[in-house]
Amino acid sequence: MPQLGQSLTRLDARAKVTGDAQYPGDINLPGQLWMKVLFARRPHARIKRLDTAQAERAPGVARVFTARDVPVNEFGLGAKDAPVLVADKVRWVGEKIALVVAETEAQAEYARDLIAVEYDDLPAIIDPRDAMKPGSAQVHPAYPGNVIKHIPIRKGDVAQGFAQSDVIVESEYHTPAQEHAYLQPEAGIAYTESAFSIDDENRVTVIVAGQWTHEDQEQIAHALGLRLDQVRVIYPAIGGAFGGREDMSVQIILALAAIKLNRPVKIIWSREESIIGHHKRHPMWLKSKWGATRDGKIIAAQVEIISDAGPYTTTSTKVLGNAAFGVVGPYEVPNVQVDAYTIATNNIVSGAFRGFGGPQAHFQAETQMNKLAEKLGMDPVEIRLKNVLREGSLLSTQTPLPGGKVSLPQIVEKCADEFGWSQKSKIENIVLSVAKDRKSKIGYGFACALKNIGFSFGYQENAWAKVELHGAAEIDQVIVYHAAAEVGQGTHTALAQMAANALGVPLEKIELRASDTATSENSGSVSASRMTYIGGNAIKGASERALKKWNDEERPAIAEYKYLAPKTTNYDPETGKATPNIAYGYVAQAVEVEVDTETGHVRVARVTCADDVGHAINPRLIEGQIEGAVIQAQGWTIQENFQSKNGNVLTPHLSTYLIPGILDVPDRVDSVILEFPDYNGPWGARGMAEMPFIPLAPAIIAAVHDATGVWFDEFPLTPWKVLEGLKKKLDADRFARG
Ligand code: MOS
Repeated sequence: MPQLGQSLTRLDARAKVTGDAQYPGDINLPGQLWMKVLFARRPHARIKRLDTAQAERAPGVARVFTARDVPVNEFGLGAKDAPVLVADKVRWVGEKIALVVAETEAQAEYARDLIAVEYDDLPAIIDPRDAMKPGSAQVHPAYPGNVIKHIPIRKGDVAQGFAQSDVIVESEYHTPAQEHAYLQPEAGIAYTESAFSIDDENRVTVIVAGQWTHEDQEQIAHALGLRLDQVRVIYPAIGGAFGGREDMSVQIILALAAIKLNRPVKIIWSREESIIGHHKRHPMWLKSKWGATRDGKIIAAQVEIISDAGPYTTTSTKVLGNAAFGVVGPYEVPNVQVDAYTIATNNIVSGAFRGFGGPQAHFQAETQMNKLAEKLGMDPVEIRLKNVLREGSLLSTQTPLPGGKVSLPQIVEKCADEFGWSQKSKIENIVLSVAKDRKSKIGYGFACALKNIGFSFGYQENAWAKVELHGAAEIDQVIVYHAAAEVGQGTHTALAQMAANALGVPLEKIELRASDTATSENSGSVSASRMTYIGGNAIKGASERALKKWNDEERPAIAEYKYLAPKTTNYDPETGKATPNIAYGYVAQAVEVEVDTETGHVRVARVTCADDVGHAINPRLIEGQIEGAVIQAQGWTIQENFQSKNGNVLTPHLSTYLIPGILDVPDRVDSVILEFPDYNGPWGARGMAEMPFIPLAPAIIAAVHDATGVWFDEFPLTPWKVLEGLKKKLDADRFARG
């Protein structure tokens, strides 16, 4: 019975549609208390005086927590360089100063506002390009010169490459921050013992939404000075993540309060608290010089990346690694020079967000490519086919791509075909949206990308799974233990389909026990498009081993398996030489936009997105990922406009930070799924959830240029920015005419 390649209904569909699904904020326990956080709400300051006396006496207050209550007051993903609660120095607006726990949420909020804090405000360090100059004030004692990380890549000789180039394009790009805007703001509940608990272990349990149960467990245990087995993390339903739940938000503080008070403690952040309280996509500045021969072969690329990390590391060094890798796009370039920096500032913390540095890097690479095509009078698809990576091509890290077929030529061609790229001069025939009047201009844009699967860069990728087969003559019941976080992407369904397929049983027989550190070992993060591939290999391995035991008459047949992916290496510190990743996915997009030259509005009419997913485990879920990624990337490119001034967030509500609504979505998103198997993927599957985000910004920018003749090297393309660009062009054209 084929279980793969079927658009089976998601396991969580019914509960989510009926409202039965329990998200962290839906869970209540008898005797629970409520927590509110006092955020600093200033970018850079020293705490002169912190007085909680009045708050402690307020009605209903159980306790007020400050830095001195945290046993090991540090946390962080890449480095434990951030305090759980600030003792002396505030470094960004979302810094937590104190926690109030009270009988009701209103009482906690009332008491929080009675905490008196006196600050000495310090000048905020805002522009990373200034922060890295000699003499700049220092944001964090661990980062002299404010450089958290510098990654150089050297391949060939760019000077020689430029000397041989017939055309050169030089540009300076900027890409903006982005808020994850998941449906469910941060929330959770923690308890030390309760009727809700399935056992009486002496430990603290935290029910929360995250992306990696075992990483949350580790961070909680570290900060509270506990052993791992004294902390249990459970994920219930999760309302979106997109990288925004990789860092700690409420995990540690809930566990702290529950332990100290021995009562369940609950918190739900408001949307405003969520927006100021968790990290954003890294803003980046990219200085870029590319050279090509007359016949369209790219021979040199020199790129400098400056990425704004905010004050703490979190995932910034990993995101930088991905960006440094992505700046040459999915092309084989013989001469490459990259210098990538991630810089400490007092802006909101930057961190993981779908694509993980890939979108920023590819915006630069793909726009450079489109500009070169224009200069050479060459079609954007044609120039790509001359340069895309193929089997045996050497990356900028001087190693070939793993996994077998490098399908970029097929992806690019298929996308162009399905979109009708070569017929777009007679596009009237296929266009859905007809320009309303002469003020509306239609344009077309093309871009492509590759996306690595997994963190890699020397990290040993791994995932754990356990499979239990129950029954006598036949397998009646299958229990699959796994820690993958179902954040809405459908991973539980895909993993169950893979188990069913490996065992030859219908999906209904699979019972998933997931996302609980008490019942599963480490399956890793749902990040970096890794779970289908790495988690899937663990499920496959455990299923096959359990089935063998079953066939050897063991009852029940139980097998555990820890998948270890092929080894990778990190960048050489001088040349950047590396075997960086275990696998890749490939993607191309063509878009049609309509630009209203009177109002400056850009509307995306149509997107064709072709993705090589290796093996489509559940095609409908893949279409969901493609459509979701396209809309999210469209928001980043056109509409979303994260504004901060001097480190203070000016857009902390969804009324000021505008994400795409139903009226903004394209008329059509055509998902084209290709399946060139990866040799090491489970049944050939590649990860794919980030890929469709990556090429959209440069494709839209190219389409807007096609419509208006203006290159926008930064976005979002708000109406104001579009009108400004059009006016600049008008003035320049007038000047040129004299
Ligand atoms: Mo991600 S941005 O690797 O959750």
